[in-house]
Amino acid sequence: MKKEINRYIDSNKDRFISELFDFLRIPSISSNSLHQSDMNKAAGFVKSHLVAAGADFADIIQTNGHPVVYAEKFVSEELPTVLIYGHYDVQPADPVELWNSPPFEPIIKDNKIYARGACDDKGQMFMHIKALEYLVASNNLNCNLKYLFEGEEEIGSVSLENFIVNNKEKLKADLVLISDTAMIDNETPSIIYGLKGITYFDITITGPSKDLHSGINGGTVSNPINVLCGIIGKLKDEQNKITIPGFYDDILTPSENDKRYLEQVDFDVEQYKSEFGLIETSGEDGYSTLEQISFRPTLDVNGIWGGHNGQGAKTIIPSKAHAKISMRLVPGQSAEKVINSFVDYFKSLTPSSVSVEINAIASCESALTPTDSIAFKAAELAMFETFGKKPIPMRIGGSIPVVSLFEKHLNANSILMGFGLNSDDIHSPNEHFGVFNFLKGIETLPIFINKYGILFQKEEFSQLETKHN
Ligand code: BES
Ligand code: MN
Ligand code: MN
Repeated sequence: MKKEINRYIDSNKDRFISELFDFLRIPSISSNSLHQSDMNKAAGFVKSHLVAAGADFADIIQTNGHPVVYAEKFVSEELPTVLIYGHYDVQPADPVELWNSPPFEPIIKDNKIYARGACDDKGQMFMHIKALEYLVASNNLNCNLKYLFEGEEEIGSVSLENFIVNNKEKLKADLVLISDTAMIDNETPSIIYGLKGITYFDITITGPSKDLHSGINGGTVSNPINVLCGIIGKLKDEQNKITIPGFYDDILTPSENDKRYLEQVDFDVEQYKSEFGLIETSGEDGYSTLEQISFRPTLDVNGIWGGHNGQGAKTIIPSKAHAKISMRLVPGQSAEKVINSFVDYFKSLTPSSVSVEINAIASCESALTPTDSIAFKAAELAMFETFGKKPIPMRIGGSIPVVSLFEKHLNANSILMGFGLNSDDIHSPNEHFGVFNFLKGIETLPIFINKYGILFQKEEFSQLETKHN
């Protein structure tokens, strides 16, 4: 099968890339309401390419937020069904001045495709559409395929839970397949079996009802920026432990398997530091950098603003101070519980001289997916075939809200088979995706589907046999 796919890729890759470029030119930034029509345009693009690739049908379905695109390729009731998920929305491109080429005018430089969304996740979800094209063209399908592409992943998949709950029958599947993560490097594939959860807060502290002269009124009223910084300073202690009461109580300790997998990762702290221009790494005392990334929850201020940010001096006590603060959660922790305890704690740290408003604007649960399933076996076999190396199982720090939702509402586990690299600068200026990686995905995904179909039927057969004996 591999030879045949590579022949197909060789004779079609220029078209694959130029189609992806058309996709990347649509600035589908989900967080910005000015891009509403681009969201619809991107959904339309996805729909038409699914149909062109050979889906039985593809629908654009409205939600309370941005639309989802849903498609099916049905083969037979006897075969397993794989639900493929991806997101067509992207992060904002700012700061645009730090891009070496415009974020929505894709180009190839040094064999890498540069554009916002090139890796996260347009490039990776498009691999699945091209994999479908190959599977249909070669008449090689031994699974039924369903496709769910959403436009709100980067804002926390806010409308997706409702959509899933209301469409359980339609989405029913034996397995979910997602390419929205990274590998270790181009020679070392990995399969992600653990993602972190998240809670994300928008916070405003209000002091005086308007900006005041900082001399006339200085020292007599609470300055909301000073107050906010003071509170933020208390959220972690000297050991970099998060100080929210009970925060660590429910965390599951890593299993023997977790530890065994972690040992397989060849992690170079010096390279990590030099890649990001770090003087030193930092983090929770008592854990290695890799353990922090894989197993430990974190808290970060994602933005902070208020007062005078223009040129020169302006002597004021500002009326308001703002911050965006998020926490990454690990298995055992509950997002709802963390939201409540964070709000209570933050309020308890706020002096009565100011008022505070805290809004939880996005959240999702962490996820752990099985590593002893036939799907995992099929993923290992497929990656071994195309990389010549067994993939390393990893738990990582990113979040994909839908993974725990599929598990909760559809009882379906996910395989996270991503082809990006952590050096692809996703969410950052100059996001890129290697041409190698894009084509490797298109090569590996059909092989995975095929192997999963075979293993699934084998297992069904052996279950039947044991029943009869
Ligand atoms: N694709 C990423 C998640 C990711 C990145 C996983 C790298 C593994 C490696 C996804 O698009 C993302 O950015 N998710 C957000 C979710 C949030 C907005 C709820 C995240 O992790 O910040
Ligand atoms: Mn993504
Ligand atoms: Mn992302």
